[in-house]
Amino acid sequence: MNIMESKDLLNLILTRRSIRWFKQDLVPDDLLYKILECGLRAPNAGGSEPWYFIVVRKDDVRREIHKLLLEAHRLYATSSLKEPIPKDKVDKWLRRISEGMYYAPVYIAAYADFRRMTHKEQLLDVERTFIIQSVAAAIENMLIAAHSLGIGAVWLGVPLLMRKVFDDIFRPPEGCELQAVIALGYPSETPKSRLGKGINEVVKFI
Ligand SMILES: Cc1cc2nc3c(=O)[nH]c(=O)nc-3n(C[C@H](O)[C@H](O)[C@H](O)COP(=O)(O)O)c2cc1C
Repeated sequence: MNIMESKDLLNLILTRRSIRWFKQDLVPDDLLYKILECGLRAPNAGGSEPWYFIVVRKDDVRREIHKLLLEAHRLYATSSLKEPIPKDKVDKWLRRISEGMYYAPVYIAAYADFRRMTHKEQLLDVERTFIIQSVAAAIENMLIAAHSLGIGAVWLGVPLLMRKVFDDIFRPPEGCELQAVIALGYPSETPKSRLGKGINEVVKFI
């Protein structure tokens, strides 16, 4: 890779933001396949590729998922946190969801595939972690790939609060467990760049 390409990649990583408002234009197949392919090239524990993805584009199913995302965010905002979110903030967030926030032309459900566990009994929880981390790496690859193609995306964890209900829609293979839903589409918002924690706060050099 030459320096120019590597600068581009760094810039993409540094400028990616979660996109929660989408145009309803179709995401072309070639871009969607490229995003998925980037997910499948992620590092994965022991070369096990322990993932399974379900892509939703049908209107009626997207509407159902969007309704569930409202419920899942409601559950998150009202009953999951030790410190509750103030009611006016929750109401505003839920109202925005009803108005179309998170309504995307494509949803990708990312599943961890636990069907081929290979570790000894006493290491199964470590293997579970390996598998979940591999899926997370694939998700991040897809978010960066989407950003590089001008497609916005957000990683949604709240569906894990009601996995069973989401499984009823996605109908994954037996032995697979939902890890996230990614909403994807052309952005209809432009979030400002985000300055998070600094290196001094979260890195120790030895
Ligand atoms: C594991 C995980 C779960 C997340 N779940 C949600 C979610 O359910 N809803 C949501 O709006 N954003 C969700 N996000 C996105 C984060 O809120 C977002 O990445 C974070 O605020 C940083 O903002 P940025 O992605 O724009 O840099 C999730 C991100 C991760 C990594």
